[in-house]
Amino acid sequence: MSRKKIIAGNWKMNKTPSEAVELVKTLAPLVQNPEVDVVYCVPAIDIIPVRDAIAGSNVHLGAENVYFEESGAFTGEISPAMLKDAGVEYVIIGHSERRGYFGETDQDINKKLLKLLEHGFNPIVCCGESLEQRESGITMDWINMQIKIAFQGVTADQAKGVVIAYEPIWAIGTGKTATTAQAEEVCKGIRETICGLYDEATAAAIRIQYGGSMNAKNCAELLAEPDIDGGLIGGAALKPDFGTIVKC
Ligand code: PGA
Repeated sequence: MSRKKIIAGNWKMNKTPSEAVELVKTLAPLVQNPEVDVVYCVPAIDIIPVRDAIAGSNVHLGAENVYFEESGAFTGEISPAMLKDAGVEYVIIGHSERRGYFGETDQDINKKLLKLLEHGFNPIVCCGESLEQRESGITMDWINMQIKIAFQGVTADQAKGVVIAYEPIWAIGTGKTATTAQAEEVCKGIRETICGLYDEATAAAIRIQYGGSMNAKNCAELLAEPDIDGGLIGGAALKPDFGTIVKC
């Protein structure tokens, strides 16, 4: 089964609305590749200007977070319906920065995943271990727990459309990439976990990205692995390097 590669930029808390439009313009000629799904996951305030700037191009619109309630007294939060109405297709949930700095739990991520699926989004569910966890040999146990909780109540059909991003925390923004073998080992392990939760067909359909200091230099080797179906790119998504990754 051939899975379409997906290269998503996670812009994090970077770019004002006008800077965002400038970046879209700079990247536009560099990110044309019909064989790949290209996604810009941008800060909430940049969603509408970026939507307008990518109109008619091959780039898909993404958000970096969502809340799991429909509406109401949740000051500062953004609902699924708001994202839908703004034209968002992909939504990152469970990024390690959300978990670490904002206290998001696996249960929150499960609620967000169910809500996104109910609204017909393509969720990008992040998971990943800390350096301490890797060094104590519990990487796969930790990730299995994250995945199993996140996918509670998700059907096989729904799971097929979910993207999982494996992002070792120690590799994010550090310039320290997991080795190709380490990244492939965990992505393969995640696919096996999905197979255990669902079946072979679901495991073969679900797309698994690697994220963590992926750049123009190391992308070719990582993306050549059988279980790595794309990348979630932070730092390099804000530079012309992103185009190199899309074309790689
Ligand atoms: P990085 O970030 O590419 O800057 O390491 C990846 C991510 O956090 O999604």
